[in-house]
Amino acid sequence: MRFLASLVSVANFVCVLVLADSTVSLRVSRDASVSFNGILCQNDTVPCSSIPLGLQTKLVAFKGNRDYSRILLGFDLPLNSVKKCVLQVPAPVDIAGPGYSLTASVTDDFWDEATVSGFTKKIDGTPVGSTNVTGRVASEIDVTSACVGAKNNKLSLFVDTSFPLVAFNSIQSGNSDVFKLDYSF
Ligand SMILES: *[C@@H]1O[C@H](CO)[C@@H](O)[C@H](O)[C@H]1NC(C)=O
Ligand SMILES: *[C@@H]1O[C@H](CO)[C@@H](O)[C@H](O)[C@H]1NC(C)=O
Repeated sequence: MRFLASLVSVANFVCVLVLADSTVSLRVSRDASVSFNGILCQNDTVPCSSIPLGLQTKLVAFKGNRDYSRILLGFDLPLNSVKKCVLQVPAPVDIAGPGYSLTASVTDDFWDEATVSGFTKKIDGTPVGSTNVTGRVASEIDVTSACVGAKNNKLSLFVDTSFPLVAFNSIQSGNSDVFKLDYSF
């Protein structure tokens, strides 16, 4: 009987292991700000949207009347098929008002952190989730549908704001508080 009881408890244990989801925290692999506005930079000589911003220490989202900057994030995904995935947004380093909205859109993976600009990156994206944030706090956006549709184990997301300027640490900041993805399988 005791042998049988321990067999049953082993069976229960195995069952729990199979049913429980595993979640890994994936740090962003590539990140950049991309300017899509029509403004000229460098003493009005060069379109701002032609300048690569991917190696700067800050990621900036901004939506003005003429200025427009989006954050672009690239993740390398595990081979496991995904059950849920949630974008972990760090606390901002700059905000222009008391609160801001963030919308994540899935976009193509054809970009390189060092060279991407509004001249080379297609602006197209499909919105997958959004959040409203008040203050300098971390937040999250469920982007499961983007992970489910990801190809070649890569995921690229635009992050936009509808309120003026919000900025976050980029990979180049050296700070550990950067964008991450909680990936459950
Ligand atoms: C812009 O023009 C000013 C005045 O001519 C000059 O001093 C400055 O170096 C220029 N800046 C750039 C980025 O070209
Ligand atoms: C964010 O706020 C706007 C304006 O109040 C509202 O329309 C929208 O539904 C909110 N979004 C979320 C995800 O709560």
